[in-house]
Amino acid sequence: MNFKEELAKRIEEIEGILKHYLPKEEGSQKAVLQAMNYSVLAGGKRLRPMLMQEAYRLFGGTEDIINPFMASLEMIHTYSLIHDDLPAMDNDEYRRGKKTTHVVYGEAIAILAGDGLLNYAFETAAGAFAKKPGDCRVEQAFSVLAKKAGVFGMIGGQTADIVAEGRTEPLTLEELLYIHENKTAALIQSALMIGALLAGAGKQQVLDMEKAGYDIGVAFQIQDDILDVTGDMEKLGKPIGSDEKNNKATYVTLVGLKQAEKEQERLSGEAVRLLEKAGAGSFFLELVQSLITRES
Ligand code: IPE
Ligand code: IPE
Ligand code: MG
Ligand code: MG
Ligand code: MG
Repeated sequence: MNFKEELAKRIEEIEGILKHYLPKEEGSQKAVLQAMNYSVLAGGKRLRPMLMQEAYRLFGGTEDIINPFMASLEMIHTYSLIHDDLPAMDNDEYRRGKKTTHVVYGEAIAILAGDGLLNYAFETAAGAFAKKPGDCRVEQAFSVLAKKAGVFGMIGGQTADIVAEGRTEPLTLEELLYIHENKTAALIQSALMIGALLAGAGKQQVLDMEKAGYDIGVAFQIQDDILDVTGDMEKLGKPIGSDEKNNKATYVTLVGLKQAEKEQERLSGEAVRLLEKAGAGSFFLELVQSLITRES
């Protein structure tokens, strides 16, 4: 199987896992359940659960204890997108090639769908405790998930991103890196760290995955900033020019397109080196390398 075929197979597998864990659209809360499922099943690269599964396999994991965590992380990621697109935040109307959740279901239900997914993510991950009662790896994985998604992770980064919008004096590169590390790299770090932890990797190996997650995550957000300028809406499934519309400082506005591309490649290269050192196979390495030239 070539990389493209393998990638398609993995996405299908992950979507199967997601469907298994998503709630049924019934009962008096049907309106919010429909909006939650609409957003998760709208598509997307499924990068975070895929990285989690790769890290788990890399360190020798073979069980399905990883599945609830994979589903959980994609739910958290999707909730962050629903809220990110709201009029009060980036105010965007397309996501994953479809109308955004608030456009389809209204703002109130979109806010609730985000809340619903966040909470349901932890209900789902907590299911792993029942599968392996008293397992300290599951406890550590749960705690990494909570922290990296939270105010000292993704929410912290989104906060700094919003606060920076209203600023007149330019952002420093350090401030921008804080935003990128937290709003985007934190969830990617959690993917790699949880995979490693659940497979029983040692402390240094988990730290290496945290570093690789930083490199991949910041590179990923730099490429997202680049595509917001140079991308194609059809391929991206979301609008271009969103950052300019919102007066966002991005890697491109700060250092220019050329330098942003260079830094993106440098960070991706660092990640590949760390993963090679950990013994990653060809799919894992190609997956990370493919992000350098991604157009969606
Ligand atoms: C979009 O993430 C938000 C960012 C962190 C840049 P993705 O580009 O992974 O979005 P999907 O999941 O493929 O839709
Ligand atoms: C958002 O970054 C990252 C999240 C935590 C959702 P962006 O605002 O640049 O993401 P897109 O471009 O809307 O996907
Ligand atoms: Mg945003
Ligand atoms: Mg946005
Ligand atoms: Mg963006």
